[in-house]
Amino acid sequence: MTQLMIHAAGITKELPLGQHVIHALRGVDMDIYSGEMIGIVGPSGSGKSTLLGIIGGLDTPTQGIIEIDGVNITRMNEDQLTEIRNEKIGFIFQFFNLIPTLTALENVALPIQFARKTRYQPEKRARELLTSLGLPDRLNHRPAELSGGQQQRVAIARALANNPPLLLADEPTGNLDTESGAAVLQALEQIRAEFGTTIVIVTHDRELASRADRVLHLVDGRMVEDEKLKPEAR
Ligand SMILES: Nc1ncnc2c1ncn2[C@@H]1O[C@H](COP(=O)(O)OP(=O)(O)O)[C@@H](O)[C@H]1O
Ligand SMILES: [Mg+2]
Repeated sequence: MTQLMIHAAGITKELPLGQHVIHALRGVDMDIYSGEMIGIVGPSGSGKSTLLGIIGGLDTPTQGIIEIDGVNITRMNEDQLTEIRNEKIGFIFQFFNLIPTLTALENVALPIQFARKTRYQPEKRARELLTSLGLPDRLNHRPAELSGGQQQRVAIARALANNPPLLLADEPTGNLDTESGAAVLQALEQIRAEFGTTIVIVTHDRELASRADRVLHLVDGRMVEDEKLKPEAR
């Protein structure tokens, strides 16, 4: 299993700020393989979220090449990127970003209802995912009726709704207490084991980073270290 899931070469991102330009990324090279669990760490402002946004097709680089699952997305337009995101990528955010008026089940079913083509029945799939993430008795709860850790597990189920090969998480435990953070970590490890999903996690959480196969260190828009924590699984 040596398939490349993410290939990034020479990624730069320049952002205009008044009369100045912010160099958010200064030439990042990165290869991530199918089935890997990767941590991205670095000080605040080092470019972690910018990099994750570019990997996920939410943002485009100023320079460089980005390929996802063998597809060069560098010059894609917004419609093409939307399709790549829907087909290949699940996102998890620090503040869960669930729709407050919908139940857990409805939040997870929604991306399946929006999929252009799918082999899933939205409700059935949502129920299965939420059950497998330990929330079988929370299907009809709205986000405000759930704890932070439960909301994040709903968000993980939603990210997995269309069975994407790639899961991207930006500070997924950043807003959780230790115990809820541990449950989220366990959920991510379970997903990787069950579905072989490639998982990239931006985090300040040392425990979370320590469970990755590799930890990539960003400083000031540059990748300064590629730290291997586990022997090659591939
Ligand atoms: N929309 C934006 N406009 C201007 N500057 C931005 C924008 N987004 C991020 N930046 C700047 O880019 C740099 C990297 O930000 P970010 O990727 O959010 O870092 P991190 O996630 O590591 O904290 C920072 O200097 C930040 O202030
Ligand atoms: Mg960030």
